[in-house]
Amino acid sequence: MFRVGQEEIDAFTRVVNSGELFRIGSKNQEVDNFEKELAEKISVDYALFVTGGTTALIACLVGMGVGPGDEVIVPAYTFMASALAITAVGAIPVIVDVDETLMIDPKEIEKNISPHTKVIMPVHMLGYPCDMDSIMEIAERHNVYVLEDACQAVGGSYKGRRLGSIGKAGAFSFNYFKIISCGEGGAVLTNDRIVFERAVYLHDGGSTFRKDYVQLARDRQGGSYEEHEDFPIYERFITPVFAGIQARQSEINGAIMRVQLQRLDGILEDLRKVKRQIMDGVSGVSGLKFLKSNDPEGDCSTHLGFIFENEELARKFAIGKGVNGALPIDSGRHVYTNWDPIMNKRGAGHPDMNPFNMPANEGLKHNYSPDMCRRTLDLLSRTVNVPLNPDWTQETIQHKIDSIKEAARNL
Ligand SMILES: Cc1ncc(COP(=O)(O)O)c(C=O)c1O
Repeated sequence: MFRVGQEEIDAFTRVVNSGELFRIGSKNQEVDNFEKELAEKISVDYALFVTGGTTALIACLVGMGVGPGDEVIVPAYTFMASALAITAVGAIPVIVDVDETLMIDPKEIEKNISPHTKVIMPVHMLGYPCDMDSIMEIAERHNVYVLEDACQAVGGSYKGRRLGSIGKAGAFSFNYFKIISCGEGGAVLTNDRIVFERAVYLHDGGSTFRKDYVQLARDRQGGSYEEHEDFPIYERFITPVFAGIQARQSEINGAIMRVQLQRLDGILEDLRKVKRQIMDGVSGVSGLKFLKSNDPEGDCSTHLGFIFENEELARKFAIGKGVNGALPIDSGRHVYTNWDPIMNKRGAGHPDMNPFNMPANEGLKHNYSPDMCRRTLDLLSRTVNVPLNPDWTQETIQHKIDSIKEAARNL
């Protein structure tokens, strides 16, 4: 979270004073309005506010009908939750290398497509966009879906399109470490009506949204649902209901996120300005090479990445006075080798629910080993990410530029 203040306090107070804390039936419709405003901002038809980014990914996968017998291609560098969402629906994560942008390598996707592949999951890490043109082309050619994990890239874009809006569906996280936040939260984004309806069922197991499902289903027999355009959206669902969980959001979080969403463009503008100034300030310095971005204009990177020839140089640079850099290889559960439940094939709390034991998943690609994505490990150990903040003063920016230059001189 970069910015929070009086406006969020006012939003919280408004909801508490009204006594309308539950989204369903709320007179204030904070969550409903947030979903509408978010969908508009990202240019998608549907947005669903849920309890987290992981839940959003799960809801998207369930929305797409992913389950046992399916493989989902995921990069070796992402927070473990991307892979856990796949096992949560009974499918198998196929872990592939990233390229020198540290995003999923389209060539590796192509190599790993199999008759079982149902979804490609590009992850826009730290706000850097994936190579979506190549990924969409591969997906279309092989007739598989794309689910964008945009949990770390809320508001960023690729060639003019917002991240999360390019694939069949996208997922955002609003946990505390994200660009905008209400502490914990997430969102499903999609233009696909059926994916949306199924995501709604998943996140609201009690089907609280549906006033009289049976009656509506009866009404609809023989008719098309366009005939029900005058009904509120949740009463016009056409997909059959199934057992879900509970991942609804509260009006308090809805109200806070409406304020956070209004802050988004300002945060990104300032973040990009800070990044541009630092890049300009250190460009051409001997020994420094920026991490390549698939869309330097659209990326909403919260860090400035540098790539070095070897780990020794990277480590020396990272600890330079005032640099405050970090090597992604040290980022714990963002590196596939540290995804213990996946690497140890403990994909569920009950053995019969463990996708790695399921007969439908026999013969699928899950021969994991710590050295299976060596290129990723090499790139992650030669990269240094320097955190950025949109609220840095000119003095702090200049200090950062000087520190980076000094650390480069000392290499
Ligand atoms: C890339 C990525 N995917 C998924 C998630 C999961 O989001 P949440 O923590 O909101 O469940 C995160 C959260 O850090 C993430 O960084």
